[in-house]
Amino acid sequence: MERELVIVLDFGGQYNQLVARRVRECNVYCEIYSYKTDLEKIKKMNPKGLILTGGPNSCYGPDAQSCRKELFELGIPILGLCYGAQLMMHILGGKVEQARVREYGKTEVCVDTASRLFGNVPEKTICWMSHFDYISRMAPGFRSVAHTADCPVAAAECAEKSLYAIQFHPEVLHTQEGSKMLYNFVRGICGCTGDWKMDSFVENSVKAIRNKVGNGKVLCALSGGVDSSVAAVMLSKAVGNQLTCVFVDHGLLRKNEVDEVEAVFGSEGFYDLNFIRVNAQERFYAKLAGAEEPEEKRKIIGEEFIRVFEEEAKKIGTVDFLVQGTIYPDVVESGLGGESAVIKSHHNVGGLPNFVDFKEILEPLRDLFKDEVRKAGLEMGIPEKLVNRQPFPGPGLGIRIIGEVTAEKVKMVQDADAIYREEIANAGLEGKVGQYFAGLTNMRSVGVMGDERTYDYAVALRAVNTVDFMTAEAAEIPFEVLQKVMSRIINEVKGVNRVMYDLTSKPPGTIEFE
Ligand code: XMP
Repeated sequence: MERELVIVLDFGGQYNQLVARRVRECNVYCEIYSYKTDLEKIKKMNPKGLILTGGPNSCYGPDAQSCRKELFELGIPILGLCYGAQLMMHILGGKVEQARVREYGKTEVCVDTASRLFGNVPEKTICWMSHFDYISRMAPGFRSVAHTADCPVAAAECAEKSLYAIQFHPEVLHTQEGSKMLYNFVRGICGCTGDWKMDSFVENSVKAIRNKVGNGKVLCALSGGVDSSVAAVMLSKAVGNQLTCVFVDHGLLRKNEVDEVEAVFGSEGFYDLNFIRVNAQERFYAKLAGAEEPEEKRKIIGEEFIRVFEEEAKKIGTVDFLVQGTIYPDVVESGLGGESAVIKSHHNVGGLPNFVDFKEILEPLRDLFKDEVRKAGLEMGIPEKLVNRQPFPGPGLGIRIIGEVTAEKVKMVQDADAIYREEIANAGLEGKVGQYFAGLTNMRSVGVMGDERTYDYAVALRAVNTVDFMTAEAAEIPFEVLQKVMSRIINEVKGVNRVMYDLTSKPPGTIEFE
């Protein structure tokens, strides 16, 4: 049976992934494609609906991202959001102009509850607005179904053609009833039944992997993080001990993490798989010596990873498949999905060397968002503690040490990070903060300790709350907790004499320091 699909056409808006995630929360599978995607290709995928995202430009400007008018004649229900809404009006004969008042932030919107888009939504509701332009005249056949004090057309519809345009952002949590509106679109207007569920995803994936792999041997790159752990367990379910998991200690993992991972996946652990631990710390440190630039470090770590796997594979004999824990945001962020600029090459996608000595790469989680990976993990009975672990980047502490990586710096950041995590747990904040860690800045400064001058490194603490890792806000860690962490780090970690707290949100910052 064909899976129901909704396509998000990305016009370069910052919330494109959020739109897709919200759709999936309605149990509808959703993929992001560039606005440039060929009409024929779209038709072939047979989507139940299309969503046009926001974008940074004006739809009437010379460099505007656009689409063909025929898109609106395919007979597929379409929902335009913000830029997508304006573009729909512009192309179909309406008018979009610069607004007198720029609407930004939470705004009260009056909706027409007779519209199918707003079924079960209260007449007055708070929505997230972010626009310079407004729809000054609707395209023929449309009627206004929402307005604000400054914006006469906050939403418009042409119900006969199943075309809907919303000026605000239903995908953002600040839009109180946003999820309901998206649900109304995909489950109501598009008629999706909601066949995207994690239990069937796991079942189907296990079957598909079994078919594909046959009697082949599989090698899994286990990093200890959530993604590769879930991928490994899925593979182990599918092919049992045809699977060998190689866990590379690249010397860039958190304190005690290597032993913790071995306890779960090793011979004493829960799973019946072949587990090999490779102690490759020195090898990685040697390769990283002198490398200061973040992307260069990512590439070095990624390549060395692959080399280590190749060597292990040769020891095992013939290896047919290599498993990687790539997830959907990696694909989109690496510029392979929608319109996003490449911000960082995630080593499991962008930094992969051209020559890989395996028949094929298996990426069983390539279609999943992080929260879906966790759900799949729980579905397969992986302990909650492991599944709900905070994310840890593939290149590990290599990108939490600004500039050159050395064994001494790794030790400093490991110790500082362990203290930070311990105190967050002591304060009962574990699970309440999205992602938190200590990083080592490349800055040394003068301090005084026991009447002596010091000239040591500064540790930066980071803690962010995020729903999707694409945007994030600095978390408000109570000052007493930060003070305790600071004092313990200064006292217990040799080589550190200053501790700072990073307040930057994403954007403009990123979550990691590099
Ligand atoms: P950024 O720093 O891009 O982080 O805002 C977003 C999320 O991605 C993780 N991250 C990485 N994961 N390889 C990975 O596997 C990488 O190179 C990488 N860089 C960042 C980061 O921990 C956060 O959860």
